[in-house]
Amino acid sequence: MPASLRILFLGDVIGHPGRQALRRFMPGLVERLSPDLVVANGENAAGGSGITADVARELFAYAHILTSGNHVWDKKESLPYLDAEPRLLRPANYPPTNPGRGVGFYESPAGWTAAVVNLQGRVFMEPLDCPFRVADALLESVRARTPVIVVDFHAEATSEKQALGWHLDGRVSAVIGTHTHVPTADERILPGGTAFITDVGMAGARNSVIGIKPEQAIEKFLTGRPQRFEPQKGGLFLSAVYIEIDAATGRALSIVREVITEEEEGD
Ligand SMILES: [Fe+2]
Ligand SMILES: [Fe+2]
Repeated sequence: MPASLRILFLGDVIGHPGRQALRRFMPGLVERLSPDLVVANGENAAGGSGITADVARELFAYAHILTSGNHVWDKKESLPYLDAEPRLLRPANYPPTNPGRGVGFYESPAGWTAAVVNLQGRVFMEPLDCPFRVADALLESVRARTPVIVVDFHAEATSEKQALGWHLDGRVSAVIGTHTHVPTADERILPGGTAFITDVGMAGARNSVIGIKPEQAIEKFLTGRPQRFEPQKGGLFLSAVYIEIDAATGRALSIVREVITEEEEGD
């Protein structure tokens, strides 16, 4: 077993442009960083909303484990896939009657195991089960298998995300925020040894409103009516964090933001 594990965590992959960004940028990132484990949030990977089995298979070329969030339910036809594919997670604090699971384990060919836990916030979002208490309930059995635990906290409010980071500090290796699609500049190691960032951002088109065509977002704000949202194309962008973890203790050693932007191409 290596002394430390290198984990690359990618924020929400937005539609076809997001998958293009992975195709374009991942070979160079993998060559430079040699991650032992790649995690990506796939909740918007199919047309900007939801995920299908075909799209998930495409993402598994780059990521060992896929997390998700509130949009994971959008493609109704793929709900059975959530039960069938243990590498695709949905937030653990949705009512347990839902398909899928919120905890995944990656067993490396080298013999080490890492756990990924997916949770969702409740502030300005669906009133799910309490993510803090669900995390408390889950962690004992997860820690019995491995101290290397990465949490994707899919949430809107910065306060809720930072609070969960502090709540889990010293008990998990990393708490990585997703959902807002905008990377924050607060990556750090908390005193107990947990790597934290409020939001890791996204992969998709940079000349967009959180991945969506700006004119559609503007129309929604101008009219107050629901609009059709489509992923913006062009100007590819990918943001991620790269975390080193002590394999024996699960403590994070470092967390670094990785942001790659394609030169402006026009659209
Ligand atoms: Fe998202
Ligand atoms: Fe989301």
